[in-house]
Amino acid sequence: MGARGATRWKADEAVGAGSAPAGLSRKRHDMIRVVTLRLYERRLDAPAVPRPLPPGVELAVWDSPTATDGPAGRWHPEAEQRLIEGQVCAVARHGTDVVAYCWLASTPVRVAEIGHVVVPGLEDVYLYDAFTVPAWRGRGLFSTLLRHLLAFAHARGRKRALIFALARNRASRRAIERAGFEISHSVSRVELWGRERLWFRGPRSRFCRVTLVGEGSR
Ligand SMILES: CC(C)(COP(=O)(O)OP(=O)(O)OC[C@H]1O[C@@H](n2cnc3c(N)ncnc32)[C@H](O)[C@@H]1OP(=O)(O)O)[C@@H](O)C(=O)NCCC(=O)NCCS
Repeated sequence: MGARGATRWKADEAVGAGSAPAGLSRKRHDMIRVVTLRLYERRLDAPAVPRPLPPGVELAVWDSPTATDGPAGRWHPEAEQRLIEGQVCAVARHGTDVVAYCWLASTPVRVAEIGHVVVPGLEDVYLYDAFTVPAWRGRGLFSTLLRHLLAFAHARGRKRALIFALARNRASRRAIERAGFEISHSVSRVELWGRERLWFRGPRSRFCRVTLVGEGSR
């Protein structure tokens, strides 16, 4: 399913997950589930400028299982398989510890929150599964990893980077915006009495060329 022909929908502004909207009983509200993701995009016309790292932290971009400095499964259960499949991971290390990471894919990736698969175009990269160890948060690591992945993608001739963030994840959204991404549109997965549907909205929904495929359709 693509983002073209987007439907405008405002209800998720009132029906924030976890808060019962006025006029709905608790029982009725339990039957409605809304998860909203923001899709960001960034053109790769110019290389991203890396920022300085905190003292003692080194950054690496691993693009094969042999590029890691030890058993990949030590810090991420799916690392080895993803690297074998051609995905790339930017990692921030303090000594031998991986303290932050973010993945880059050029092939379809499942977006669990909306139960769909994002299919990057030939000129796209898709960034996902970012994590910073709690003690290292707020020091710019995620934003810096994003910049390195953008530079990596630019150097390989890619034209656009895409990334999703949960609308309620302020830390993630801030870091993404600091790395120069702009919101393309929002995607809400609405579950209502056992039925689910995706809603797209935002200023560029009608023009955004991003392909999302329902998991049962592949
Ligand atoms: C989201 C996450 C990756 C951010 O990592 P990080 O290395 O701390 O990110 P950065 O330091 O680059 O940027 C975080 C920004 O959010 C701000 N921030 C941190 N916590 C915040 C909060 N609770 N509310 C608002 N802003 C917050 C920071 O101040 C910083 O903004 P600034 O650069 O303008 O000061 C990290 O919090 C994390 O691992 N969370 C759990 C997994 C997750 O949500 N992954 C995101 C997938 S897209």
